[in-house]
Order: sequence, then structure tokens, then C-alpha cells
Amino acid sequence: MTPPPAEETVKKRSQDDYVFGKVIGEGSFSTVYLAKDIHTNKEFAIKVLEKRHIIKENKMEYVMREKKVLQILGNSTYFVRLYCTFQDGERLYFVLTYAKNGDFLTFLNKTSSLMLDCVRHYAAEIVLALETLNTKGIVHRDLKPENILLDENWHILITDFGSAKILIPVEGEKNESDEEGSQKRRNSFVGTAQYVSPEILTDGKVSFASDLWAFGCILYQMVVGLPPFRAGSEYLIFQKILKLEYEFPTDIDTTIQDLIKNLLILTPEKRLGANESKIYTSIRQHPFFRDTNWNNLGPAPKILPS
Ligand code: ADE
Repeated sequence: MTPPPAEETVKKRSQDDYVFGKVIGEGSFSTVYLAKDIHTNKEFAIKVLEKRHIIKENKMEYVMREKKVLQILGNSTYFVRLYCTFQDGERLYFVLTYAKNGDFLTFLNKTSSLMLDCVRHYAAEIVLALETLNTKGIVHRDLKPENILLDENWHILITDFGSAKILIPVEGEKNESDEEGSQKRRNSFVGTAQYVSPEILTDGKVSFASDLWAFGCILYQMVVGLPPFRAGSEYLIFQKILKLEYEFPTDIDTTIQDLIKNLLILTPEKRLGANESKIYTSIRQHPFFRDTNWNNLGPAPKILPS
């Protein structure tokens, strides 16, 4: 029989194991701090949630979901890793990978648009990340440039699974069904306006295709500099999404335009990749990715913004 691990290797961590530094992120239910492990000097991002606030706003389910999703993802490439969790009387703590190069939105906003090779590289990293989510039965539901972080080598790390859904495959059903019943059930959740898919607005249906729509919006933003559906209010943005009301400036490469048009399709089942599981073959085979080696994407391009 294997002896139990030595006392110190299993000791539950607490905030005394870290020196807390500056705030690096803020959400409606959490604050993210840069923190240093006092034993190893390694940096982490620690997400701190106020128990009282979470309970008052009835968000405990989302917090537990985020923890579960991060545990399912483990140390998968292209995702922030959850190293440990702990709590005190007032707060919950998630110890996460610290993404040294900030978020993709800040990176995109430092330039008007990205060089095409740079777009291709990041698009391919996002495709591989979406394939991992699909394989593990996870729909992110709030994919956007702010939730894509960049590590020390400029590779993506997807974060913020507070809105995610876990889909469990059901025998004899082509599609997956939700943990809490059928995924076809109406769902009141709506992510960030600019990236939300039309089906979330109309019937609240949850599927991997919603993340493919968000991917189409992010690709557009990478090449144009702004997301495709823009207006003065959330309501007006939703109207444009439901009417597929967007256009390309005239100077945009036609191959990437074709890829984006095939992701931004109102009917979720018709989106590129929507009928594939685990590997998005039709996306991988799109002419935009003709020169992409899917087994080795290589380093992020050095010439970053144009
Ligand atoms: N902001 C929010 N989460 C972060 C993380 N894990 N790393 C860096 N900045 C962040």
C-alpha cells in the first residue's frame, strides 16, 4: 500500500502562502491580484471573490461551475490553469496562471489591425483551444478578446469560465444534452453583447456553435480593428446581430473574409465546424489556413502589430 503523502505536501494553502501585489483584473463578482508564492517566488494571478456578494447575487452556481471547468481543463494548452483554491471567512480564492503579456483586447487596441500572418497564427491557436473545449464538452459562452490572455511567450491562455456550460454526451442523441436537462431548454444567460450569437438571443440554445460565432467576431476584429456588430446600445447591437447586419471595409483579404462569412451564419448548424466534434476539420481545411501546420503552430510571429 502506498503511504500517505508527507504532511507538508498536502497542507491546504492560505493567503499566508502568497504576497499580494497590484490588481490586474476586475469583474462584477471578483478582483484578480498579481501574487507571489513565498516558497517558490513564482507569480500567480489570484482571483478573489466576496462570499457575501456571491450569495446575495445568487452566483454560487457560476463560481462552482468555473472551478469545475478549470479542473476539467487541468493543464491543457491555451488555457489558464487552476493551481489551487482556498477560502477564509469572507472570501474565496482561485490561484491561476499569471498571463504576463496581458489580454488580447489591449494587444489588438495597440494597433488598427494585425498583419495577416499574425491573424493566422492567433486564429489557429484559438481553433485548437476551441477543439479542446469541444472534446471536453465545454461551451465557453463569453469568448471575447478580454478573455483571451497572453503568456510570457505570447501564446494565448483562455480565461473566465464563469459563464461556461458543461455538455454531457447522451447515448442515441446526435447533439449533447445539458447537465440540468436538455440543452434545448431556454436559457436566460446572455454573454457580452458584441460577441453573442443570434441563437442565444432568440431561443437561448447552448451549443459549441455559439463559441464558433464568437470566434468569427474575434477574427473580424483582428483584421478590421473593431467587432462586426457595433451600435450605441446593447439593444441596437442585438438587432444588428439578428439581421446579420455587418460589412467589410474594401481592403480586407478575400480569403479571410470568406472564413469569417462562414462562421457568422445565423443558423448555428450551418456554421463552419458546427457539425464536427473534437476536430474542426472544415475550419482547418479552409484556404486561409493553407500553410498552417496544425501539429506545430510554432512561435507567435515576432512582427506583431502592423
Ligand atoms: N487578468 C485577469 N486574469 C489574469 C491572469 N490570469 N493573468 C494576468 N492578468 C489577468
